[in-house]
Amino acid sequence: MYIDYNIEQLHLRVTKDYDSLSKLAADIVEEELQNNPAAVIGFPTGSTPIGMYKELVKRYQEGRIDFSLATIFNLDEYHPINPKNAQSFAYFMHQHLIDHINIKKENFHIPNGTCDDVEAECQRFDELLEKAGGIHLQVMGVGPNGHIAFNEPSEEFTKKTLFADLTPSTIEANSRFFPDKSKMPRHAISMGIQSLFNAKKILMLVNGEGKKEIVRKMLLGPVTPQVPASILQLHPNTLVMIDEEAALELERNGDLK
Ligand code: GLP
Repeated sequence: MYIDYNIEQLHLRVTKDYDSLSKLAADIVEEELQNNPAAVIGFPTGSTPIGMYKELVKRYQEGRIDFSLATIFNLDEYHPINPKNAQSFAYFMHQHLIDHINIKKENFHIPNGTCDDVEAECQRFDELLEKAGGIHLQVMGVGPNGHIAFNEPSEEFTKKTLFADLTPSTIEANSRFFPDKSKMPRHAISMGIQSLFNAKKILMLVNGEGKKEIVRKMLLGPVTPQVPASILQLHPNTLVMIDEEAALELERNGDLK
């Protein structure tokens, strides 16, 4: 099903395929909620976590997982975008998870893509994170350019929730979800690197050959804000779970020993 490696203080798990990755990710969320029914969990959007969400909904329906005392924070949301827009992250989360589990509506938080005052919204989101007491388990993906949430390559690591300019490479990568690419927002409200780094546990999920280069860069390259995901090398409790395709570059360079 998988092989575990230690890369410095990071734990790397290479799974046979995407299906195993999704099931193992759901195991980790299930275990977190079994140990702490009132857990605060951070979730991402994108194509990678869809298999995990499908598995979490299935296990909720089987009575294996109870979200009634949990709190969910989403990493980010485009701006401007209406939550009813099928391309919004709010719509994505309701479609793939929120509408199918027993999370209380008042315990699901995602940045407001229709806000007029983005700075105030960033402040509001940070206050919610503060009030929740921080995140116990932060699940995340990684963009092809190494962005996490919408923290793009830049000159310094971001801190709190921020109003982010999307880079051309991210716009290109994410525009696949927009029938009319010109309608894709060029900004987003995103949790900052410091907020993410404060999570007690981090689970990063990466799948597919398209991510093989960025996986090697973020795990073995220098820790730099030019590759935001590289900050995970310094986090004390991170599991990076990748499928065999995403591990190809590591394989090719003999890094997996
Ligand atoms: C988006 C999201 C990230 C996500 C990334 C990768 O930019 N803001 O949170 O990790 O894309 O998405 P995918 O899993 O589709 O490759």
